[in-house]
Amino acid sequence: MRKFIVAISGGSGALYALKVCEYILANGDELFLVTSEPGRRVLSLETSINLSGKTEKDLKILLEKFGANYKNQIHIHHENDVGASIASGSFKTDGMVIIPCSTGTLGSIANGISRGLIERAADVVLKERRKLIIVPRETPLSLIHLKNMVKVTEAGGIVMPASPGFYHIPKSVGDLVDMVASRVLQHLEIESSIIKQWKG
Ligand SMILES: Cc1cc2nc3c(=O)[nH]c(=O)nc-3n(C[C@H](O)[C@H](O)[C@H](O)COP(=O)(O)O)c2cc1C
Repeated sequence: MRKFIVAISGGSGALYALKVCEYILANGDELFLVTSEPGRRVLSLETSINLSGKTEKDLKILLEKFGANYKNQIHIHHENDVGASIASGSFKTDGMVIIPCSTGTLGSIANGISRGLIERAADVVLKERRKLIIVPRETPLSLIHLKNMVKVTEAGGIVMPASPGFYHIPKSVGDLVDMVASRVLQHLEIESSIIKQWKG
């Protein structure tokens, strides 16, 4: 079982995160989930999932969403719990994705400001030279956002904007969500039925 960290911050696009979580679990891997307070707010606005920030309660909600059989695969950490396993480099993980990534969280990570667990875990992933994927969602982008993306890229992170292509002829919002989520899953080397390779 591999260990993947998924962080949901307060950018728009919570559906992308749910899709990535779904396939991490379906693949038999462990999910370490952290949500920011704005992340939970946007999640409840855009989906039917209403997380509270209380780990036990939120675990129950996610088990209802993904299936009770995933109990041993889901670990939820509070955003302020900088003593959680994933806050230390000695705890080996196989990759982290921040999806969606707000410009605020992007700015903190780009500048090494590790105040909460999302920023700290990302800082650790970068310093340990592990895989960090950031899925920012904002438009238009200011020079500050662009420079922060350059900084994260220079530090070894992968910036993967939530911008689905249309050449697979999407028929629904779900198809567009799959398009973004599948690119993230490919980079995490997670098998999924939603990955469609372009064959020309
Ligand atoms: C409905 C809603 C949608 C938002 N969408 C975005 C967005 O797409 N991108 C972004 O950078 N911030 C967005 N924000 C603002 C962030 O949530 C806000 O800056 C927050 O402080 C980010 O905190 P976090 O990085 O700790 O999650 C949105 C806020 C709300 C309430």
